[in-house]
Amino acid sequence: MLSKSAIIHYDVIDSTNLESKRLIDKEKIFSPTWIIASKQTAGRGRGDKKWVSQEGNLLASLILPIGFSLDRLPFLSCIVALSLHQCISKVITDNKPLKIKWPNDILYDDAKLAGVLIENSLSQSKNFSIIGIGINVAHHPIIEGKNTTSLNAIVQKNMKTMDLIKSLEIILYEYLEKLINNSEALLIDEYKSKCWNYNKTVKFMTNDKVLEGILIDISKDFEIIINANNKNIKLNAGELSFDY
Ligand code: BTN
Repeated sequence: MLSKSAIIHYDVIDSTNLESKRLIDKEKIFSPTWIIASKQTAGRGRGDKKWVSQEGNLLASLILPIGFSLDRLPFLSCIVALSLHQCISKVITDNKPLKIKWPNDILYDDAKLAGVLIENSLSQSKNFSIIGIGINVAHHPIIEGKNTTSLNAIVQKNMKTMDLIKSLEIILYEYLEKLINNSEALLIDEYKSKCWNYNKTVKFMTNDKVLEGILIDISKDFEIIINANNKNIKLNAGELSFDY
């Protein structure tokens, strides 16, 4: 049994994030609720990309009533990434690198294994965060120029998506406690230790330009800081995408 959240399961839905928004708009959500789908017909990724959503993969959104000050919202992205990393590292036993690509993609040996799309629904009556999570469990899409992988291929067995969700929820609530208890500095340090290409050269895209620089820091507001052409550039999640 899940400890804290209700669950609504769909065999097929367009997108669990979209359904979450609809349920919030209809005032049907009062407490943390997982919206889980076996299949999505219009799965959405960050930056208006599609998320290929085949049956057998983990496709879920956690609707979370926001119980902390809105200025900590960027940190939700940080703790979701840390939670997903911990959840996946519990089932992967080999020594290949498992990293968080800022802000919250999970890469195994430089191949994309999981992604997160957080969308907030803020209103005068109630604030919610919709934490959309996709883990390639049984399948991974073939995308030209990108490395992708799946959990079953890594661990050589069939993982159950509900087991992963249960484990993820427990870990996420532990991290939420830390967020509520003002442990941002520790969370950022932990994040940096797991961050893909930290202190290394990265290629990234901002304002339609491809640039190269060294990923030198993550700010206290969870922005990425890259040194490019001897200048430090600070960007938030909407302003940068990586070429990897
Ligand atoms: C990304 O890496 O671009 C984010 C992918 C997020 C995919 C998940 S699957 C469940 C939820 N519903 C969606 O439509 N998207 C998220």
